[in-house]
Amino acid sequence: MFNNHEKINEEIIKLRKKINEADKAYYVDSNPIMSDLEYDGIFNKLLELEKKYPEFSDLNSPTKRIGSDIDNTLPESEHSVPILSLDKCYKTGELMDWIKKNAEKLNKRIEVVIEPKIDGASIVIYYKNGRLDKALTRGNGYIGNDITENIKTIGSVPLIINENINLAVRGEVFLNIDDFRVFNEKYADSKYSNPRNLASGAIRRQKSKETALFPLNIFIYEGYYENINFKNHIEILINLKKLGFPINDNMGYFSDEINLDQKLPFKNMISGKFAKIPEYINKIGEVRKSFKYEIDGLVIKINDLESRKELGFTQHHPRWAIAYKFEAPLAETKVTSIDIQIGRGGRATPVANLIPVKLTGSVISRATLHNQEYINALGINEGDLVTISKRGDVIPAVEEVIEKNKNISPYKIMKKCPGCNSNLIEEGAHLFCPNEKCPKRLLETLKYFVSRNQMDIETLGGKTIEFLFNKGFIKSIPDIYTFNYERLLEFEGFKEKKVNNIKNAIIKSKEKNFEIVLSSLGLKDIGSKVASLLADKYNNIDRIIETAKKRDLSDITEIDGIGEKIANSIIEHFNNPKVLNMINILKSVGLKFNNMSINKRNKEKLFLNGTKWVITGSFKNFKPRDKAGEIIKEFGGEVMGSVSSKTTHLLSGESPGSKLEKAVELNINIINENDFLRIIKNKEL
Ligand code: IVH
Repeated sequence: MFNNHEKINEEIIKLRKKINEADKAYYVDSNPIMSDLEYDGIFNKLLELEKKYPEFSDLNSPTKRIGSDIDNTLPESEHSVPILSLDKCYKTGELMDWIKKNAEKLNKRIEVVIEPKIDGASIVIYYKNGRLDKALTRGNGYIGNDITENIKTIGSVPLIINENINLAVRGEVFLNIDDFRVFNEKYADSKYSNPRNLASGAIRRQKSKETALFPLNIFIYEGYYENINFKNHIEILINLKKLGFPINDNMGYFSDEINLDQKLPFKNMISGKFAKIPEYINKIGEVRKSFKYEIDGLVIKINDLESRKELGFTQHHPRWAIAYKFEAPLAETKVTSIDIQIGRGGRATPVANLIPVKLTGSVISRATLHNQEYINALGINEGDLVTISKRGDVIPAVEEVIEKNKNISPYKIMKKCPGCNSNLIEEGAHLFCPNEKCPKRLLETLKYFVSRNQMDIETLGGKTIEFLFNKGFIKSIPDIYTFNYERLLEFEGFKEKKVNNIKNAIIKSKEKNFEIVLSSLGLKDIGSKVASLLADKYNNIDRIIETAKKRDLSDITEIDGIGEKIANSIIEHFNNPKVLNMINILKSVGLKFNNMSINKRNKEKLFLNGTKWVITGSFKNFKPRDKAGEIIKEFGGEVMGSVSSKTTHLLSGESPGSKLEKAVELNINIINENDFLRIIKNKEL
């Protein structure tokens, strides 16, 4: 029995070894050694045995790569080596100066290694006695978050290395650009703007099973060995590769000493004299666009470890390495505070307040942080130094934390509404204030109503509406139309001209058509698209209310573009006495609640009224050609059998008959198939 038991343990170890070898071959060497079928067979057998014999379980078994449902709290943990960041430059000239300065300082000829600067999430993995022990985020360089279980799910990370040593490795977790596109849509709760942010979010998931969903990759670029001495960086990289770590071999090796004939240790390594560096950098700057993953620069490192020691560190970065960045970050600034904004629908959005910085012509002082997941991915907290960009050239976004302040862990959103103190509720990746009377929500509803794309009462916008709300003069949408604005004259800042402007804008807003009024009410799910679909079908508010009262769901879902969920929400809104009351008041002050474009639409509908058509030849889009005749009739035109002086248009297709000649003779409009298609599309002759 005991013997048998021992045998099972041996079998388990054998299976693990096979899987580890297959993982390395597949993920690191891109050179699979077995079929998927064979792999699955071994993997499942291992899973089964481990389940049956939990006494042989092992934290470093490859079965741990599937991840688990256990909540990781990502506790903070100390790095055993300081994990510094890099100084940076943006010009090859600056870089050449840096090399020259170091050579002078060291007073000897030096060698540098140039590596791609992978744009991902920076992590450190610790191995104890050859086994993966702990993985931490970079954090502030001294303390990071424990993400061990998540990192184990990455196929190319060795769980066990062939030597029984203690080792720390630094690397960058990233996603290939193609995978980013697919998996950002598929699994990320809040969509990330680039592969780096998604990678960063994925490794900070609370459940490792979720991390396992993403095809994460890693490149290792530094190794810190306990009790083993190497001469230079390249030797370390060679050793790391031998131990099974994925190394990016798109490297440059430069020195004036180089014997160019010597065999280089990595397949894609390129070597040359220092003078060739600018050319090399420019070339990578070009070819990086064809890389599968994003790199945002290059890292230039002094090869010799003795020289590294001699140069040492500043407080923030080593003096023996520097980053060359392809593009300057758009702006750097500090997060002064983070607050929670409540939208009119109740959504709680964290927003970073920034020390104002100028960026392509505008001053930026705030940027959205979307939700807790996004905050975690950035690792951002108050006081941090960050880079800011403008998404789509407009919307300010925090791109990256470049220096952490005292708060190591990311900012935690309080689950209380700052407007009304209600408990916020979680819905998907976002938090919501459930209180419909929340003052913040009410104010946002008013702001939305008067905004430019809605009722366009701009003179009332921003600070003015806030003032009126805080004074209690305008508490709801109808108040906008019933408040006596003369009362404002007694307040500072309200001169007659300003008050008149407000009054005029309010009068003008009454001309806004039904669908704008409907969408401006700020009813959940009734945005401009749904409002316009409703206006199209029902033409006036009373018919919508009637349908809602009957709870006639199918009458609403019949509309192409409105599904059951939204239809239900519409029914609820128009059964709500408060909504109905608001509509009645707004009706009485003269807002439009029926569709004023009916006339126009009717006109469009019969735009061929009074025309008489003859059709000849054959058509690509109308087979049989009677179909074209039906369309003409639908829009109010008449179709005749033969050309006469009464005919106004000849629709002429491929191989027309004698009708064409006759039409030419009688000077009748001749319309070919393409013209006809355009006419019915534009509803205009
Ligand atoms: S070396 C002390 N090499 O760039 C050594 N960093 O601020 C410092 N990075 O946090 C790092 N690729 O996340 C190094 N080949 C590479 C790198 C690299 C990407 C990241 C790393 C670091 C940041 C620099």
